[in-house]
Amino acid sequence: MIYLLVALGSVAAVVVLASVGALLGVPVLVYYLKGSLDNARFRKVAAGFYALVALITVISIVAFLVSVLVFIPTGLWILFSGSPISSIESVAYVLMGIATFYSVLFSFYYVAFTVSHNKRPDLIGLQYEKYGRLRNWSRATNAFRKEIGWTERFVTRAIEAIQACKDDRTDPIVIIGPSANSGVIEDILARRTASALERQVHMYASDMTELPSHIEDYSEDGVEYRYTSGIEAADLKKTYPFQADVIFDNKGILWHKANSSKKKVNVQEIMSTYYDLLKPGGIVIVDGYIHKNQGLLTMLNQFQLQLLRRISWFAEKSTYAYFSKMYQSDPELKKLFKEVIIPDGLYTVVYYQKL
Ligand SMILES: C[S@@+](CC[C@H](N)C(=O)[O-])C[C@H]1O[C@@H](n2cnc3c(N)ncnc32)[C@H](O)[C@@H]1O
Repeated sequence: MIYLLVALGSVAAVVVLASVGALLGVPVLVYYLKGSLDNARFRKVAAGFYALVALITVISIVAFLVSVLVFIPTGLWILFSGSPISSIESVAYVLMGIATFYSVLFSFYYVAFTVSHNKRPDLIGLQYEKYGRLRNWSRATNAFRKEIGWTERFVTRAIEAIQACKDDRTDPIVIIGPSANSGVIEDILARRTASALERQVHMYASDMTELPSHIEDYSEDGVEYRYTSGIEAADLKKTYPFQADVIFDNKGILWHKANSSKKKVNVQEIMSTYYDLLKPGGIVIVDGYIHKNQGLLTMLNQFQLQLLRRISWFAEKSTYAYFSKMYQSDPELKKLFKEVIIPDGLYTVVYYQKL
């Protein structure tokens, strides 16, 4: 009996939470679609909504796992013992109900994001802002990268790419990082490049997102580092009225564009912007590891990110994995850039060199 009460209590809590999520989500979606989200108050509501659906996702995963762990053994037990309905069985059924309910909400989560971002790609950055579901993304991801030695090795491969770039060898090496988020990896890349190649490096980091904290401007050890907030891809040419040797777009703008619904047009647009921003022979550097989207690990990453502010896997596809097929099948893109892979498993760097 007690099991049944606990389960029913959980269902009630779940229904209330889900209804709040749905109630909040609907106006936010409407405001997105109407284009009214430039209003600061609604931007906050939207970011809060992101955090809420992330929480719902976490609960849905727990409900799903519990239902699988409880229902399957119970079902088998009932099957083989032929026992009449018991309270354990009732709990299992109730948990199954929760799991089903949350599967539906989980779909809503994806639909909400997909619809919103396709209609308002200028608001993708909200997720990383103060109330957004990815507000801890940078801290968690960069800590994980450091822990497994990813940053150092990936940056070493990126420097190999920069060496291959046909710059005119007059200082400085100019790098634009247009999707820098907090700028952690851009800062490390600038410092390592300056010391490895014994050249001056000018790093111009920016992002569409307005982050509460990021690596601040500095000039030291052969590096000039500048960070600008609130720069959307469409404004890059206005923001940088000069040409660069390198565009460093690790898991950034190209990843988001190659992942969107109008990907062909979006990708062509950004690659043409990058083409104009680069000096002849300049390169676009992206992450290039190859593995499939690992759905369960992505969910577990979300779970940890919300509750423990950490992640434990590279679960999503790389920029190269999304973009390369599009590049290979598009003669226009092939006329603009040559694709070069520097293979090294998880640390693989791919660069696209301006022709
Ligand atoms: C996953 S983070 C990657 C940050 C950084 N490159 C790294 O690897 O640590 C992706 C970033 O791309 C930015 N971004 C996505 N689309 C963008 C766009 N159209 N214009 C500018 N920034 C964009 C997001 O705001 C976000 O901060």
